[in-house]
Amino acid sequence: MEFSEVLSRRRMVRHFADRPVAPDVIDRVVDAGLRAPSAGFSQGYAVLLLTDADDRARFWATTETEQETASWPTETRAGVMRAPVIAVTLSCKRTYLDRYALPDKGWTDRAEGRWPVPYWHIDTGMVALLMLLQAVDEGLGALFMGMPPEKIPSFRAAFDVPDDHDVVGVVCFGYEAADAPRRDLRSRRREFSDVVHRGRW
Ligand SMILES: Cc1cc2nc3c(=O)[nH]c(=O)nc-3n(C[C@H](O)[C@H](O)[C@H](O)COP(=O)(O)O)c2cc1C
Repeated sequence: MEFSEVLSRRRMVRHFADRPVAPDVIDRVVDAGLRAPSAGFSQGYAVLLLTDADDRARFWATTETEQETASWPTETRAGVMRAPVIAVTLSCKRTYLDRYALPDKGWTDRAEGRWPVPYWHIDTGMVALLMLLQAVDEGLGALFMGMPPEKIPSFRAAFDVPDDHDVVGVVCFGYEAADAPRRDLRSRRREFSDVVHRGRW
């Protein structure tokens, strides 16, 4: 698929088909994420990959909030929960502080004020984005979603996630359901000229 087609096709999929994804395809999607750039090539990110039905059920049991929301009615929740693959992306600040304390960087004080924004989270977001794009290239659909903060402790406990790794977000992917509703966001897309400031603000 042409890259321009991957870009134009990509949208968040919230209605997955009840159809498995071949293991080599799953690995290619996740591996694409690991091609993400990272500050100082720190690579302080991790992916918790859940494909077994029991693990996925445990994931939803520990992370799902009961309340139905406008953007996630019951039917949407069911559509998302059918995703055969859940890839939780996590960032590790310590890896960046360690990396930048090395002689070629020299930030031995490990001061967080040196960082304009937390690049550990940024880089992990790039991992997720590359997975979203590779999923499209593989003929799949994918969703990036947040994890409710109040659910993170139970998620950590259920999957033995170490304390020095923070959940950035969750990529669910699989084949899109044939009858998945289409969201048309074109009218809400900000104009190029609203976002881009040429030369000066
Ligand atoms: C950081 C981030 C967090 C998001 N969290 C959620 C979420 O928790 N639940 C959800 O349904 N969609 C979530 N989304 C998807 C956005 O709603 C979606 O990207 C946006 O509406 C644009 O739609 P599109 O990606 O299909 O073009 C998230 C997207 C990003 C980038």
